[in-house]
Amino acid sequence: MDITLLQETAQRMVAVGKGVLAADESHPTIGKRFAALGIEASEENRRLYRQMFFCSPGLEDYISGVILFDETIRQRSDDGTPFPELLDAKGVVPGIKVDSGAKPLAGHPGETITEGLDGLRDRLGEYFELGARFAKWRAVISIGNGTPSRGCIEANAHALARYAALCQEASIVPIVEPEVLMTGHHDIDRCESVTTDVLQCTFSQLQCQGVSLDAMVLKPSMVISGSDSTAATVEEVALRTIGCLRNTVPAAVPGIAFLSGGQTDEDATAHLNAMNRRGPHPWNLTFSYGRALQTRAMKTWGGDPAALESASQAFLKRASCNSAATRGAWEPSMEQSIA
Ligand code: 13P
Repeated sequence: MDITLLQETAQRMVAVGKGVLAADESHPTIGKRFAALGIEASEENRRLYRQMFFCSPGLEDYISGVILFDETIRQRSDDGTPFPELLDAKGVVPGIKVDSGAKPLAGHPGETITEGLDGLRDRLGEYFELGARFAKWRAVISIGNGTPSRGCIEANAHALARYAALCQEASIVPIVEPEVLMTGHHDIDRCESVTTDVLQCTFSQLQCQGVSLDAMVLKPSMVISGSDSTAATVEEVALRTIGCLRNTVPAAVPGIAFLSGGQTDEDATAHLNAMNRRGPHPWNLTFSYGRALQTRAMKTWGGDPAALESASQAFLKRASCNSAATRGAWEPSMEQSIA
């Protein structure tokens, strides 16, 4: 383990003004998003689409790191440069999704456990050779009638901690992602109490497994009302989320990079901005968005090679708004120039 490399990489990933692009959708997930727009889910289309992000001019002004999928970390740009090398040359840290997805948790109907620990040490060694300097593992917790159960929270927190320890052993920074899903009728109070339980359990397991907290990045969901409930205001989401994080996340953690989780692009930006306006905080607060950075760009592209440049502009616009939000400097008027 190279602890200095780990600490420096973690700091770079959450540097003020920058955030992480999550471009690590599995084949079924990206396939669904392409299908909704009538785009063929071929390997070449996935390569072209992701190349559009990685080759966006000035990407490095707003993006500190990119989470790749197993297929993508092995792909090359049109001129034959491997994607990890292309990103590294721009000063953008290449990362890799290493979990193998959320599977039904035995004995807990409707709940899931994220798998992928078997053989992970060997896979991390290979990914380091391919250029990855950070990794991601997503645990999924859903709120429902009587859920999440203690069994689900503990099993997922334990897996996250085992994954994080293996990453650090391989000199790879772990992004620890316990996602509390937005889906449901629950109100913001319930989201706050579940998120608090999940984060407390996650940090207890991280400490138990000997994970260095100064060499990781936390990727949580925000404290927000369920998608089928009345939306809380931007200020309420910011206040509740910061309060919950202050109660659960040790100050040794260098940064917290939120997922967007199905929020609209503008909500994800506005919430991050409102939190940073209330700073300083013990940790840097930034973004590690998938959909909230990609949706507009994917629609703009629509599979048409002639639209790649406009798609790239749409992406850069979102990235720049989120970059401003890491400083608390975003204004709704910045959205107006978006096509
Ligand atoms: P969203 O921002 O679309 O939630 O994706 C982030 C991510 O990496 C999910 O694991």
